[in-house]
Amino acid sequence: MVHVSQALAAVLLASGAIAHPSGNTNKEILRRQAHLDHPERRNVASCKRDLVETGWVRDQHQRREARLHELRVAAGFAKPHEMVRRDVAEVEEEYGINAACTLDPEATEGPYWVTGELIRQNLLNTEKGPPVHLDINVVDTTTCKPVTDAYVEMWGTNATGVYTGVQARGNGDGSNTAVFTNALRGLQPTGANGTATFITLIPGHYVGRANHLHTIIHHGAKLLPNNTIQGGTISHVGQFYVEQNFLARVEAVSPYNTNKQAQTKNANDFLFNMGKQGGDDPVMKISLIGAKIEDGLYATIDVGVNPKAKQNPQPVNFWTEKGGIPVPGSPWTGYPDTCKNCGFRPPKERDVEGELEDAE
Ligand SMILES: *[C@@H]1O[C@H](CO)[C@@H](O)[C@H](O)[C@H]1NC(C)=O
Ligand SMILES: *[C@@H]1O[C@H](CO)[C@@H](O)[C@H](O)[C@H]1NC(C)=O
Ligand SMILES: *[C@@H]1O[C@H](CO)[C@@H](O)[C@H](O)[C@H]1NC(C)=O
Repeated sequence: MVHVSQALAAVLLASGAIAHPSGNTNKEILRRQAHLDHPERRNVASCKRDLVETGWVRDQHQRREARLHELRVAAGFAKPHEMVRRDVAEVEEEYGINAACTLDPEATEGPYWVTGELIRQNLLNTEKGPPVHLDINVVDTTTCKPVTDAYVEMWGTNATGVYTGVQARGNGDGSNTAVFTNALRGLQPTGANGTATFITLIPGHYVGRANHLHTIIHHGAKLLPNNTIQGGTISHVGQFYVEQNFLARVEAVSPYNTNKQAQTKNANDFLFNMGKQGGDDPVMKISLIGAKIEDGLYATIDVGVNPKAKQNPQPVNFWTEKGGIPVPGSPWTGYPDTCKNCGFRPPKERDVEGELEDAE
C-alpha cells in the first residue's frame, strides 16, 4: 500500500483524480509518491554540509557571480573592475534553503519529448525573446559530489507557448511548421564542476500548464560522430519553473505579450505543486543582465540526482535533419486524442484550488 502524504492527498482530491481516475495522471501521482517515499531520496540541501565544507558552494557561487559580471560587461552594463560580490558566508548559509537552488523531483516527461537532439549550447535558432543564459549544476546526492560526466537535456516552448519538433492538437495553435525545427531543444555535457550551460528562452505558457522547462539527465551515453548521444541511462526527469512575479514581468514584454493561450499560474499547476513537495525547489534563480528584461537574463539552478537511478521516459518523436519523426510505438503518439498515454491530462486551472505552500 502506498502511503499518500497529506499534501499529495489534497492535490489528489482537488484535481478530482480519485473521483475520476484517468489512468496516467494517477500513474504520475504514484510515481511521484514512490519517489518521495524512497528511503534513499535526498535533495541537494541534504548535501549542504559536505558541499559547504569542501568549498564547492563558495566556488560555484563565485564562478556564477563572475559569469554574470562577464555577461554584464559584454552587454555594456558594467565595467570589468566593477564587480560586486555577495558575502560568501551568507550564500553558504542560504545554500539549499531559500536560495532557490535545490531540486530533485521526478516529474513527467510529458507528451512532447523529442529524442536524438543535438549537443549544443545555444538553443535559440531564430526564436525571439530575451536570451536566458542558464547555468545548471548537477550534484550526486548519494556522494554529495558534482556529477562531471553526465549530459543535461533541455526542452521548452517558444515565447508564445509552442514546442518544436512535434505537431499535436494542443501544441499551441497546432502549427504544422514547428515539427521542422529543433529550436529550444538540445544537450550539454556537465564539466569539471558538474555544470552544464545553455542559451535558451523563458518558456511561454500554453493551455493547462504553468510556464516550465523540461530536463532529463543522461549517464553513460555514447557520443556519436554527428553530435548526438545514444544509449546510457536516465536518472532524472524534471521540470524547472519561474517565480510568479518575475514571470509576470517577462510575460509583459514582446513577443510573450502576443501569446493568446490561457495562462496557468504556478500555484494552480498540478505538476508544480507535486514538484515542490518534500523540500524540493524547482524554481530557477534569475538575475537581469542589464536594466530590463529585454537585455537578457542569467538563470541558475542545482539538480540533485542519484546517478544509478533509472527512469524510463518515453519520447514521442526522434529528431532528424528532416524534422521530428514519430518514434514507433511511443505511448504519446497521437496525443491528446489517440494515444496510449492520452489519459495524462494536466487538470484545468479551476480544478486545483488553493495554495499548497505548506506542502510537507
Ligand atoms: C569550476 O569551478 C572553479 C571554481 O569556481 C572555476 O575556477 C573553474 O573554472 C570551473 N571549471 C569549469 C570547467 O567550469
Ligand atoms: C512559436 O512557434 C510557432 C510555430 O512555429 C510560430 O507560429 C510562432 O510565431 C512562434 N512564436 C514566436 C514568438 O516566434
Ligand atoms: C545521428 O546519427 C545517428 C546514428 O547514425 C542517426 O540515427 C541519427 O539520425 C543522426 N542524427 C542526425 C540529427 O543527423
